[in-house]
Amino acid sequence: MKVSDVLAVIDSIAPFCLALDWDNSGLQAGDPDRRVAKAAVALDPSPETVDSALAAGSDLLITHHPLIFAPLKSLASGRPQAEALLKAVRADLPVISAHTNWDAAGMAPALAELLELKPEGFIEPVSADLLKIVVFVPPGSFGQVSEALFDAGAGEIGAYTRCSFRAEGLGGFLPPEGSDPYIGSQGVYTETAEHRLEAVLPSSLRDRCARAVRASHPYEEPAFEFYRVDIQGAYGFGIVGVWDPPREPLPWIAGRLGKSCLTLAGPVPDKASRVALLPGSGASYLPRAKAAGCELLVTGDLTHHQALLARELGIGVVSAGHHETETPGCRRLMLELAKRAPEVSFSMIREESPMPVWRAPWILPRRWRRMAAPGGFFSRGPQLRAAGPPPRSVAWPVRPWSWPNLP
Ligand SMILES: [Fe+2]
Repeated sequence: MKVSDVLAVIDSIAPFCLALDWDNSGLQAGDPDRRVAKAAVALDPSPETVDSALAAGSDLLITHHPLIFAPLKSLASGRPQAEALLKAVRADLPVISAHTNWDAAGMAPALAELLELKPEGFIEPVSADLLKIVVFVPPGSFGQVSEALFDAGAGEIGAYTRCSFRAEGLGGFLPPEGSDPYIGSQGVYTETAEHRLEAVLPSSLRDRCARAVRASHPYEEPAFEFYRVDIQGAYGFGIVGVWDPPREPLPWIAGRLGKSCLTLAGPVPDKASRVALLPGSGASYLPRAKAAGCELLVTGDLTHHQALLARELGIGVVSAGHHETETPGCRRLMLELAKRAPEVSFSMIREESPMPVWRAPWILPRRWRRMAAPGGFFSRGPQLRAAGPPPRSVAWPVRPWSWPNLP
């Protein structure tokens, strides 16, 4: 499989046409024709991540955050963004970034899955640039043509794959002189049973699917056409979901994300039912979350003014860290890729949060200070941030949730 094939697989999972205008998703560096046997997935394209990918023998690095994002004015070594780029280019390591296209396709659902929140919809649904292919096939060839289309990336709606529709009908045609018809004879008008096969695809896969139909269809001149479609509901930013029964949000979120410290704003309820999730920098969606009837927004970043806005709007906010809220989505991307490109070995690079929390020992009760010291009880798991009784009914320390089946 080549780098360009991996790009096509990502495009089938998270169409690059979903990326926002200001974003820079896609191939960041490297040769699209380079062969890939091993690929590493990470959140950030830092110099350390490039080193880890190379140490693991990877032929490709896939990151969520783009390698080239803010205006890159210089490639002088020593600058973090330039350093990672230079390392990747010198080592002939191609880098692909799936940023806001993955935000719209799988980032928030991954966090919802981790927090066991039942999704009800997106905070901001977006429609992808999708096409529908309609192919007319003889009944005996339906299977091979539909399989070829699915292998080319057609038939994916949300998490569902190999989606299609078929209807039986009657096709008619007149083979011209010099033709080689699969059914009928030259110069004889023929009618035959045909199936109308329909499947959706990202517009970027149009040529690939056309080639798949021509290669698999038994007719000398296959009849197929593309239509532009607007499917709402398959993609979107942020999830609105429900905890049923309602949960105590703080210990649950902290435990699932392995966090010992959460930043709060607005009226955080003791128990929450309707919750909005926006991994990463999602606090700008506060008004939309409130309008969607949510009591709580879980996101990764929070500024002072967004905290004031939350109080004004009367909606609670839990800021659980950009790194922590987007890492589940990166892992989900890796698993999706591994499922769809089994010939490539995918692995996830473990990254540390660039924002560690420091806890002043003097705010802890004397009897806890030894436990909070390096190597002490709390350093092996989530830690208390402040002295005094735990907030509300939080039972500390909460055991961090651990990734199952981590390769
Ligand atoms: Fe992010």
